Amino acid sequence: MQNQINLTFGKEALAELPHKLKARAYSSLFILVDEHTQSYCLEPFLNQTQLHDAHVLQMKAGEENKQLQTCEKLWQQLSELGADRNSALLNLGGGVVTDLGGFVACTFKRGIDFYNIPTSLLAMVDASVGGKTGIDFGPLKNQIGIIEEPQEVIIDSQWLQTLPEVEIRSGFAEMLKHGLIANPDYWKELIELNTLDVNSLAPLIESSIAVKKEVVETDPKERGLRKILNYGHTLGHAIESYFLIHPHKKRLLHGEAIAVGMVLEAFLSMHCCGLNPMDAAAIKSGFKRFYPPVSFSNEEINEIVDLLRHDKKNKAGRVHFVLLKSIGDPQMDVEVPQELFQKAFEYYSAP
Ligand SMILES: NC(=O)c1ccc[n+]([C@@H]2O[C@H](COP(=O)([O-])OP(=O)(O)OC[C@H]3O[C@@H](n4cnc5c(N)ncnc54)[C@H](O)[C@@H]3O)[C@@H](O)[C@H]2O)c1
Ligand SMILES: [Zn+2]
Repeated sequence: MQNQINLTFGKEALAELPHKLKARAYSSLFILVDEHTQSYCLEPFLNQTQLHDAHVLQMKAGEENKQLQTCEKLWQQLSELGADRNSALLNLGGGVVTDLGGFVACTFKRGIDFYNIPTSLLAMVDASVGGKTGIDFGPLKNQIGIIEEPQEVIIDSQWLQTLPEVEIRSGFAEMLKHGLIANPDYWKELIELNTLDVNSLAPLIESSIAVKKEVVETDPKERGLRKILNYGHTLGHAIESYFLIHPHKKRLLHGEAIAVGMVLEAFLSMHCCGLNPMDAAAIKSGFKRFYPPVSFSNEEINEIVDLLRHDKKNKAGRVHFVLLKSIGDPQMDVEVPQELFQKAFEYYSAP
């Protein structure tokens, strides 16, 4: 158990893994997959690591399974298969597997070692790095959890080959966010990409993770700086919740919702933090290159703004935002006048 982020990259790192595990002399090894990573990633993982003796634990895919019942089943299986304090769990999957697997590991017998091998873009650049583990509690996302770093996170873009395109776009939104909050050159490089595929993204993943790593190592418990990772997420989460409450309307993945949120919050940044209008326009057109527009009726906007009041980061009923003074220079805890919300949606929808 540790609070330092230990990241390794590429197939070589994967090939090294069995030697590191052997050196630690674990009593037994477990690999957690979901249905999709079992089909697409498990066999190559076993071939490349030769960890054929590890027990494979499986969970159903999808956010709706990031729940206590799934943990109970896994704790049960760990017990039945004789896991002890000296066992280790390898999480091979997207953010659901790394969040839930990390939590299962941290709580089983008061904590066993775990390793993250993220297989979705979102898990590579965001979920698997930074030590937040946990599960949803009923409809409330990430309500139960522990902050604990894995022994190691092994990032390898090979897994992206089988990841559906919408999931690639969802993870790409977090990469754009990392550019916007910390690295203007990186942001420019990303929005100039012509395709989003393994070849174009692979060389860019490491810089994105570097932003998250630096922020999280400075402020692991989100007392201050870590909040900048929430750029686009205040309105983005409200939009995400709105479409979860009304599933018949549209399904928006997390990244698609925060992509809208980042354009809306660019408008707020212009009005509350002095973001240059040209930069706000560049943010809007940058996102439009990759994300189809989402339309919102007035009624929908009102309901989304209402949902903002439930954001867990509110203080004393006021909505606080992370906004941009300029690209690469965020400001935390900005209070925004309510009347700007409607205008932000108008800005987003205008051609
Ligand atoms: N801990 C954190 O700091 C943090 C940060 C951001 C997000 N998250 C969490 O991450 C989760 C979202 O992560 P996600 O988008 O990876 O979701 P996910 O794990 O549900 O993966 C998305 C889909 O892709 C599939 N998949 C994953 N890898 C694949 C591959 N290589 N080939 C084919 N299919 C593959 C999965 O089975 C799933 O169906 C949410 O629960 C969110 O709360 C956590
Ligand atoms: Zn996010």
